[in-house]
Amino acid sequence: MTGILKFADVYQESVTQPELFWGKAGEEVKWVKKWDKVLDDSNKPFYRWFAGGELNTCYNAVDYHVENGRGEQIAIIYDSPVTDSVAKITYKELLEQVAKFAGALQGMGVVKGDTVIIYMPMIPQAIVAVLACARLGAVHSVVFGGFAPNELAIRINDAQPKVMVSASCGIEGKKVIPYKPLLDEAIRLAEHKPQKTIIFQRPQVSAELIAGHDYDWEELMKTARRADCVTVAATDPLYILYTSGTTGKPKGVMRDNGGHAVALKWSMKHVYDVQPGDVFWAASDVGWVVGHSYIVYAPLLYGCTTIVYEGKPIGTPDPGAFWRVISQHGVKVLFTAPTAFRAIKKEDPHGDYLKKYDIKSLKYLFLAGERLDPDTYHWASDMLKIPVIDHWWQTETGWPIAANCMGIEPFPIKAGSPTRAVPGYKVEILDNNGKELPNGQEGSVAIKLPLPPGCLPTLWNDDKRYLDYVTEIPGYYVTGDGGFYDKDGYLFIMGRIDDVINVAGHRLSTGSMEEIISKHKDVAECAVFGMNEALKGEVPVGFAVLKAGVTRDPAVIVKELVQMVRNDIGAVACFKQCAIVKALPKTRSGKTLRSTMRKIVNLQEYVVPSTIDDPAVLDVIKDAAKKLADEA
Ligand code: COA
Ligand code: AMP
Repeated sequence: MTGILKFADVYQESVTQPELFWGKAGEEVKWVKKWDKVLDDSNKPFYRWFAGGELNTCYNAVDYHVENGRGEQIAIIYDSPVTDSVAKITYKELLEQVAKFAGALQGMGVVKGDTVIIYMPMIPQAIVAVLACARLGAVHSVVFGGFAPNELAIRINDAQPKVMVSASCGIEGKKVIPYKPLLDEAIRLAEHKPQKTIIFQRPQVSAELIAGHDYDWEELMKTARRADCVTVAATDPLYILYTSGTTGKPKGVMRDNGGHAVALKWSMKHVYDVQPGDVFWAASDVGWVVGHSYIVYAPLLYGCTTIVYEGKPIGTPDPGAFWRVISQHGVKVLFTAPTAFRAIKKEDPHGDYLKKYDIKSLKYLFLAGERLDPDTYHWASDMLKIPVIDHWWQTETGWPIAANCMGIEPFPIKAGSPTRAVPGYKVEILDNNGKELPNGQEGSVAIKLPLPPGCLPTLWNDDKRYLDYVTEIPGYYVTGDGGFYDKDGYLFIMGRIDDVINVAGHRLSTGSMEEIISKHKDVAECAVFGMNEALKGEVPVGFAVLKAGVTRDPAVIVKELVQMVRNDIGAVACFKQCAIVKALPKTRSGKTLRSTMRKIVNLQEYVVPSTIDDPAVLDVIKDAAKKLADEA
C-alpha cells in the first residue's frame, strides 16, 4: 500500500477530470504514438479512449519487460495437479514462444484485423496463442473449454475466425475430455468454416489431424519465423469475449487495445496493491473475463508472475490444493470466486489442510464473480487472517467496478459489500424511471456514462445491441444488477434483476436454456430460473408445460430435457432439475409472470399481481418449486 494517496481525492479527480486522470495513467503504457485525445466523445453514447494513439498490447506485456531487465524473471508458472507437473517460463522464453507462434499464424495468412478462436484448456499455450494474436493485431476470441460444440458453433458464426487454435484434450479433475471431436462437431454445425486449425497435442490424447486443414502446434513451431509486433490503433479491437445475455444469442463483448492496457495496469497497483515482480494468481479459467484480465493481460502488463493453474480447489487432490500452490510459488494475491471457497469450506471446515502449509506470502484474497455471502467472507477471513476483498465487476467492464482499493486507501471491510465504486466509475442506484434513489433503498445499479477505459466500447458487429445497455436510462450504462448503498455509502450488489444467472461463478443465460427446452417435441412452453444453492450460489431449475395429449412418463421427459441442455450448452450449465407443471402463471394478456416465479423459486415474499389470469397456478408453481428445492 502506498499510504500516501487519499481515496476521496483520487476518486474525485477520476470522475470530475477523467481526461486528466486517465491521461496520467496512460503515461504508464508504452505507445508507438501518443493519443490525440484522451476521451473522444464526439459520437455519444459511443465513447473512445486514447483516440489517435498507437501501440501494441503484446509488446507492452512481453517485449517491454525483456528490453527492461525482466527477461530472466518468471512470467508464467504452469501448475497442473491433474498432470502432476509444474513448469516455469521466463519473460524471455515467453517472447520466443509468442513471436514464433505469431509467425505460425502469419504463415497461415492471419493479419491485423482477422479473428482467431482459441478453444483451449488451462495450459500455457492458451496464453501464448492469445498474446500471439495481440502481437499481430489479430482479434482473439477465447471460448471456455466447458462449452459444448453448439455454443462454440454460435461463436464461430459470429466471430468468423480465419483460424482456430485448440488442444487435443482438456483435463477436468479425473476426466480427460478429447477436444478435437468437439471442435470438429462445432465446425460441422457452423455456417462459417474456418480455413485451418492448429492443435496442441497433449500426451494424454492424440488428436487425429486432417491433412491440409489441421496443423500440429509443435511442428509449426519448429519452422516458424519470429513475427514482430504490429502497431494498432488504441481503439482497434484486441479481443471479443462472448458472454451470456438474456437471450440464447451470446453478446460479443469487444475490448480495445489502448484503454484496456491503461486500465488494467492502473488496477494492478491501485486495486490489488501489487508490485512488478510479485506473484499474482487468478484461479479462474482463460475462457472467462477474469482469466483474460487477471491471468493473462494485467499481471503481464505489470511485469508480475502469473499462475496458470490446471486444477480445482478440491479433489486435485484435496482441499489443500490452493494452499499448496500459494506456498510453493510464493503467491502474494489470490483472486478467485466465492464458490471455490465454499467448496473448500465444505470439505475442510476447520482448515486442517491449511495448517499443513506456510502461506505467509499471501497478503490479500480477492473474490468476485458472484455475491460474496457473509458466511463465506467470515470463514475465509478467520482462516487466512488477511484482508478478504469482495469486488464486483462484469465481462463488459473487464476490471472491477466496485472494490476496496488496497493500493489507495483501504476502508474497513463490511461483510456482503464490495465497498466503494472504483475510481473512474460513477455508480448510482436508480428507480424504474431513472431517478436516483437515496441510500438504503434498493434499485437498479447503473454507471454514469462515459464508462472508464477498458470497458466495452461496443459489442462485436452489433452496435444496436450495445445501445440496449446505454439507452434504457439515457446517460447511464445499466448493469443488470440490483443493489443499494447503505447509510455509510457502502455499495451492496444483491444479484441480477434480469435473466442472467451465476452458477459456480459461471455466467449463464436462462433464456438460452429455455430456447433449448422449447425444442423438445413434447414441450409446449417452459421457464428457467436460478435457484439459490449452498455451494454454487445458484443452479438453474426449469418448469415445463407439456403439449396437450402427451402421455409419456414425465420423469423420462425431464431426463431428456436435462440431456438436451447438457448437449447444447455443456455440462457447465449444471441444469439437472425440471418440474413438469400444468401451466405457467400468466397475466391476462398472456405474459409469463417471471419476476413472481423468480421469487417463488427462491422462497421470497411476493405479492400476487393484480394482472394475474389464474391465481391458483401460483400454488402449483409453489409446490413444484418446493419439491425441486428438497431434491437439490
Ligand atoms: N471443460 C469441460 N467441462 C467442464 C469444464 C471445462 N473447462 N469446467 C467445468 N466442466 C464441467 C465439470 O466437469 C462438471 O461436469 P459434470 O456435471 O459431468 O460433473 C460441470 O461442468 C459443472 O462444473 P462446475 O460447475 O465447475 O462444478 P464442479 O462440481 O466440477 O466444481 C467447484 C465445483 C466449485 C469446485 C468449481 O465450480 C470451481 O472451482 N469454481 C470456481 C469457478 C471460477 O473460477 N469461476 C471463474 C470466475 S472467477
Ligand atoms: P461475469 O460477466 O461473468 O463476470 O458476471 C458478472 C455478474 O456476476 C455481475 O453482473 C454480477 O451479477 C455478478 N458478480 C460479479 N462479481 C460480484 C460481486 N462481487 N458481488 C455480487 N455479484 C457479483
